[in-house]
Amino acid sequence: MSLVHCSLSGLGRAVGFLREANHRFAQWFNRVTPKGLYPRSLLIIVTPMVLLQSVVAFVFMERHYNTVTRRLSAAVSQDISAVVALYGALPATDDHAVLRRIAWRDLQLNVAVLPPDPLPPPGPKPFFSVLDSALSREIGQKVSRPFWIDTVGRSNLIEVRVKMDDAVLRIFAQRNTAYASNSHIFLLWMVGTSLVLLTVAILFLRNQIRPIENLADAAEAFGKGRDVENFRPRGAREVRRASVAFLEMKRRIERQIEQRTTMLAGVSHDMRTILTRFKLELAFLPDNADTAALKKDVDELQGMLEAYLAFARGDPGEQTSLTDMGALIEDLRQNAERDGATARASFMGPPLVEVKGEQLKRCIGNLVNNAVRHADTVEISGTRDARWLIVNVDDDGPGIPEAKRDEVFRPFLRLDDARNQDEGGSGLGLAIARDVARTHGGDIVLADSPLGGLRATVRIPV
Ligand SMILES: Nc1ncnc2c1ncn2[C@@H]1O[C@H](COP(=O)(O)OP(=O)(O)OP(=O)(O)O)[C@@H](O)[C@H]1O
Ligand SMILES: [Mg+2]
Repeated sequence: MSLVHCSLSGLGRAVGFLREANHRFAQWFNRVTPKGLYPRSLLIIVTPMVLLQSVVAFVFMERHYNTVTRRLSAAVSQDISAVVALYGALPATDDHAVLRRIAWRDLQLNVAVLPPDPLPPPGPKPFFSVLDSALSREIGQKVSRPFWIDTVGRSNLIEVRVKMDDAVLRIFAQRNTAYASNSHIFLLWMVGTSLVLLTVAILFLRNQIRPIENLADAAEAFGKGRDVENFRPRGAREVRRASVAFLEMKRRIERQIEQRTTMLAGVSHDMRTILTRFKLELAFLPDNADTAALKKDVDELQGMLEAYLAFARGDPGEQTSLTDMGALIEDLRQNAERDGATARASFMGPPLVEVKGEQLKRCIGNLVNNAVRHADTVEISGTRDARWLIVNVDDDGPGIPEAKRDEVFRPFLRLDDARNQDEGGSGLGLAIARDVARTHGGDIVLADSPLGGLRATVRIPV
């Protein structure tokens, strides 16, 4: 029982280890491989190509080239052993003229007979020479006498010396008769064709990947509320399908926004007509406390309606343009000072941002107005980095309790103490501000401010 238990827990540990290793490997792999689709596809093409060619080249070098070199050096060694045999058989007259003539004419070997000095010490072995080792082995087998060879050096000759009893034979052979020397042509062909292949692949891939990049750009621009210009479905079938689906989705969203806007505007307009009639009728009633209260309510209702109309209209027409955020924030600061608050403003980073300037000013302006209404000190601080434009509006007022920070964004919602203050205000400010931030692809969040009040943060991707 305990044995089974032991082996089971061992197995469990092994599986856990494997899973962990696999996870690590996947993480590492993700880190080292490039992130873009283009380099990834190139890698998918290039890696097998390089692998294949390396294997082929290695096998070729190892097998073919070695075999050929061995055969060739065997032939040269046979020639040399024939020369050695001839030396013994032919008469040593006239400085071995016959031997040298036969060797030169029939075997292309240049033979000289030297005095019987000892052989030179073995020269340095070339580090990676198939020729040297093959030739040494072959000569050692064919000629059973001491010998010395020199295959080093750039000349196209190789030198072999064989020690005879009464002399030393010095033999020069052509290097290319002992050596498969033109194998680099094979490598050249291989590298050349793969370069051509790579060029073709790069060109083709470019064309396949551009439509995907265009789709990504279009979706990103639409998400940020920017114009999507000259985007057409192109490329492979799947990419085209995704593009068509994106365009359909975009059209549906736009239609929905338009429908919402016209409906809200229609409702508000109808109500305004009735309200005007109501006011007119009120004007004919005698002035007393009841009618005064009624008039005040009607005025308030009309104020709300106006605000609502503005909200429903939502300036859908505004296009994005390069806006100087530093100047925009400074402008809002001056407005806040004019309204009687102590205001500070700062901006860090490149100030020119591609946004709908008027709407964004309204968005941040609403936050500043709230701060001015509820607090004495306002601080507007903007930062912009490679990805985000962030604007914080801080105040030292009472703030908003955490539980209420979601619901204050609802249209017409005003918290109780604000309602009691009775200072105009329709409860649309935050709703409009969030609407604007969201059409830019961003959002607004509320938090505690280091100044003690509320911090409203606008975050917009750039
Ligand atoms: N800086 C703030 N400090 C404290 N409470 C706030 C602050 N900003 C907003 N609030 C609360 O959130 C509520 C909703 O704000 P919102 O801006 O949407 O409406 P409003 O300011 O009352 O009206 P409007 O902005 O349309 O004039 C406010 O009524 C107020 O109670
Ligand atoms: Mg407000």
